[in-house]
Amino acid sequence: MQSSDLYTFKEWFSEYTRTFYTDNAGDRRNIDLKVRHTSFVCENIIGIAKEEHLSGNNLMIAETAALFHDLGRFLQYSRYKTFRDSISVNHGRLGAEILDKENILRHLPLHERQLIMNTVRFHNAFEIPLFEDQQNVLFLKLIRDADKLDIWRVFAEYYQSPEDEQASAVGLGLPDLPDYSKTVLSCLYEKKLATLSGLKTLNDFKLMQLSWAYDLNFRHSFRLMAERAYIQKIAATLPQTEEIAGAIALIEKFVTGKQE
Ligand SMILES: [Fe+2]
Repeated sequence: MQSSDLYTFKEWFSEYTRTFYTDNAGDRRNIDLKVRHTSFVCENIIGIAKEEHLSGNNLMIAETAALFHDLGRFLQYSRYKTFRDSISVNHGRLGAEILDKENILRHLPLHERQLIMNTVRFHNAFEIPLFEDQQNVLFLKLIRDADKLDIWRVFAEYYQSPEDEQASAVGLGLPDLPDYSKTVLSCLYEKKLATLSGLKTLNDFKLMQLSWAYDLNFRHSFRLMAERAYIQKIAATLPQTEEIAGAIALIEKFVTGKQE
């Protein structure tokens, strides 16, 4: 890949996303949210990849994958007015389909094309699929960390902003009730990822997001997570119960340990 390819991809991406802006303020906020998210994920992936000593071509592949990872979000939102895959479409798969249909990566060598397509397609899978090609695994680990780090930012901002300024599709339409489910909380105690399917309230969603700490891959990601105080920011918006506080303390300890 040449740096001119990356430049062309960025131009294409801003042209493409521009077509999704409408006169509706709510829709604009949701589209804007994903455009901004994309640029922060690009920033995150470059930071993590450099710490992992990626350079040249590999660094550009990582950035391209980040640029396109949520490509499917725009069409998903314009068709279904939601970011909830379970009631609409798998946005990773949709993004890969768009890349394919628009033939955006046509000038790249086949192997690079495959790496980028697979990274986009599986960035949102519950776990990384089995790949013989370890480079596939590497780029998926990178995107998944870079993506999570920025989703935490989006959430921390979402909860802090007044309701009329919130991008409505962020909370996935889950009710903002004081309850939370024990099954989601128990994932935090068991140090495993909570699944989207069992979520009933916005608090469950927050707990699930905290469980992502157990799925981070790189030391630099743990550092960024701690530096930006995402755990504390999200924790501050949860019910202040003893069992939640215990789970938070456990995550904090885990994240601290992973930075050494
Ligand atoms: Fe995504």
